Amino acid sequence: MKKIYIAGCGGMLGEAFYGQFKDDYELKCTDKDVNASWLSLLDFRHFDAYKNEVITFNPDYLFHLGAYTDLEFCEQNADETYSTNTLAVESAVYLANELDIPLLYISTAGIFDGKKEFYDDWDQPNPLGVYARSKYMGERFVVENAKRYLICRAGWMMGGGPGKDKKFVQKIMKQIKDGKRELFIVNDKDGTPTYTHDFAINLKLLLEKEYWGLYNMVCGGQTSRLEVAQEIISILGIQDKVKINEVSSDYFKSEYFAPRPPSERLINRKLNIRGLNVIRDWNIALKDYLDSYYQDYL
Ligand SMILES: NC(=O)c1ccc[n+]([C@@H]2O[C@H](COP(=O)([O-])OP(=O)(O)OC[C@H]3O[C@@H](n4cnc5c(N)ncnc54)[C@H](OP(=O)(O)O)[C@@H]3O)[C@@H](O)[C@H]2O)c1
Repeated sequence: MKKIYIAGCGGMLGEAFYGQFKDDYELKCTDKDVNASWLSLLDFRHFDAYKNEVITFNPDYLFHLGAYTDLEFCEQNADETYSTNTLAVESAVYLANELDIPLLYISTAGIFDGKKEFYDDWDQPNPLGVYARSKYMGERFVVENAKRYLICRAGWMMGGGPGKDKKFVQKIMKQIKDGKRELFIVNDKDGTPTYTHDFAINLKLLLEKEYWGLYNMVCGGQTSRLEVAQEIISILGIQDKVKINEVSSDYFKSEYFAPRPPSERLINRKLNIRGLNVIRDWNIALKDYLDSYYQDYL
């Protein structure tokens, strides 16, 4: 069995990666938050510890998944964010090159400025806030320095269920669970959801084909926060119980003060050209996600 070291594996995406790879690879999954039995402790900002772990495990691939993903936290803690989301990626590049193994780095649709309606793999990023900049600088370091790499850009992540999902779907589900009968949803933010399980399946395919490089990797279909919220309500069949009020982003400007592009829609142009785009459309994946993780939640 080939071996994969997965750093920062305790989050939404890590859960899907563990499920997707555990039967076919020998895994070592670490995180600074040890929240599952298959995880062990590593804070990848500590270079000596990271190096010792990876060199000792001697993997065939290094997956560097972890990051700070809360945009407001990042905006208020810039140095800590660059240390975590950028400098630790530089360490990962060094370790992968040292072992002469491929590196996986996860980037984000949020690195674009939103002036275009959608972005393909070759569009020029122009990050607006600290989180986006920290991720883009990580991306650039990998491109410029790693011997072999996969960089996969995800969109609006959904996955992990109530215990791990920190993002939009869980925020909506929590409000419904708490008995809210009115939801306030922005009508000026476009993007592409990305189901962690589909992402992990597509990534595995790419890895096994050894098509190294940088890829957009999001669900099919272009959508918006508003449409995703409407779809959740429709899947749950509670249209007559929960009302959606459309608001502009200004409505949330004190809570969500980090800059966000009006559009962070990606298209998987390179995956399509290679004939390797197996990610489902966002609404099908969303239904699968809710069915799989939220059956007993409400
Ligand atoms: N979430 C999204 O919408 C989204 C979209 C596009 C791309 N991405 C990228 O996808 C990747 C996976 O993120 P995710 O969605 O799975 O987010 P997540 O649920 O926040 O998971 C990230 C994990 O990384 C861990 N981590 C942070 N700093 C670490 C450190 N110094 N050492 C070890 N582990 C550390 C976090 O631990 P703590 O919880 O203790 O901080 C968390 O368990 C990230 O690179 C992220 O930038 C995410």
